[in-house]
Amino acid sequence: MSENAKIILDGETHEFPIVVGTENEKAIDISKLRGATGYITLDYGFKNTGSTSSAITFLDGEKGILRYRGYPIEQLAEHAEFLEVAYLVIYGELPTKPQYEKFKTDIVRHTLVHEDMKHFLEAYPRGAHPMGIAASMVCSLSTFYPESQDTNREAEAVNLTIIRLLAKLPTIAAWSHKNSLRHPFVYPQNKYSYTENFMHMMFSMPTEESTPDPIVSKALNKLLILHADHEQNCSASTVRIVGSSHANLYASVAAGVTALWGPLHGGANQAVIEMLEAIKADGGDVDKWIDKAKDKDDTFRLMGFGHRVYKNFDPRATIIKKAADDVLDALGIDDPVLDIAKKLEKVALEDEYFVKRGLYPNVDFYSGIIYRAIGIPTEMFTVMFALGRLPGWIGQWKEMRENNEPIGRPRQVYTGSNKRDYVSIEKR
Ligand code: CMC
Repeated sequence: MSENAKIILDGETHEFPIVVGTENEKAIDISKLRGATGYITLDYGFKNTGSTSSAITFLDGEKGILRYRGYPIEQLAEHAEFLEVAYLVIYGELPTKPQYEKFKTDIVRHTLVHEDMKHFLEAYPRGAHPMGIAASMVCSLSTFYPESQDTNREAEAVNLTIIRLLAKLPTIAAWSHKNSLRHPFVYPQNKYSYTENFMHMMFSMPTEESTPDPIVSKALNKLLILHADHEQNCSASTVRIVGSSHANLYASVAAGVTALWGPLHGGANQAVIEMLEAIKADGGDVDKWIDKAKDKDDTFRLMGFGHRVYKNFDPRATIIKKAADDVLDALGIDDPVLDIAKKLEKVALEDEYFVKRGLYPNVDFYSGIIYRAIGIPTEMFTVMFALGRLPGWIGQWKEMRENNEPIGRPRQVYTGSNKRDYVSIEKR
């Protein structure tokens, strides 16, 4: 293979280096393209554009492979704890026992949020969407820890921000739920694991502590691991681009939370359950909804289906589908929407429209069914995704800063009016 790519523009040949990743992924490095030729590339939605090189996550959409730092997602989801995976994603290696103990202790020590932050929570209207609350609360952390705004601090100081964020997001998330019910907040307890503590703050009352169910805790652990990172997706790219202006970690992650909120990204998990409920309420005629999804005049899409990168199957969906069966069995729950989901999947997988376009269930198709079974309200589903994705956002931000990457600033092709002169309002 030649070492350079050749591009012929206006009759002149220009050479650009080819970059090959550790898994043989190939790219043409066009960083000098504009300087050399005056041209830029145009790629709506960055479908063919690598915005960076990264050592965190490898995924092969054709083969359905997903690995964090080289470890297959199947092994991590089966054997690891979420905080172990968080450590792996953020710092690059699985922790040793002493490293892990210290990491967990550091996190437990920072789970409380400042009492003044409760005032913000109380000011939100009843029923405020918890993603809106989570994004603003995460950003607000930067005002309570103003030293975080200096992102050129030494690694140890940056690390404290990382620990605080990991420790406080479950508290913020659970409290946003309590607040939407206008129930009193439940404080974290050091005796609980990360997932147990979250369930405790979600479901205990100050007057009555509900013991976290190990089945629920295990299911949650798995779901969080499956969401921990997914390379340069919409929210991770947002975090990196915001952070590239040297905005602090809290502000950068808050931007990631808002990017995740949309129904084409993390918001799909809420949209899936709403869709399944709508199909159930409509009599359960799956074919009718498949036809709607195929109809180009209808804006309806099969939520939880399709992916920018996965074109054969999403390995996370395979694990989640099995976990949904296991959790519902273990908890003795019979959820009719699980049957509708399976019917929908079966019909879609045999339908030429979906096969031709490589549309398969994604991570969000079955996750909501598990969240529901373990008592998480629908509006909290995307917050659950955010809890899981937090290590990924942190890892992506950290890598980008450590690589000293330049500010993210794409170009455009201008298609507006040519120069024209201002006309006073009386003459228009
Ligand atoms: N239902 C019906 N048709 C679809 C769907 C769907 N869910 N997804 C894609 N298509 C069609 C689309 O209309 C297009 O058809 P055509 O070629 O005839 O114009 C073709 O498939 C390609 O779709 P696209 O929108 O160009 O693909 P994309 O890579 O830009 O979008 C996606 C990927 C995930 C946004 C899209 O598949 C989608 O909207 N899915 C539903 C929302 C969803 O489940 N999102 C969660 C993604 S996984 C969680 C995460 O990491 O964010």
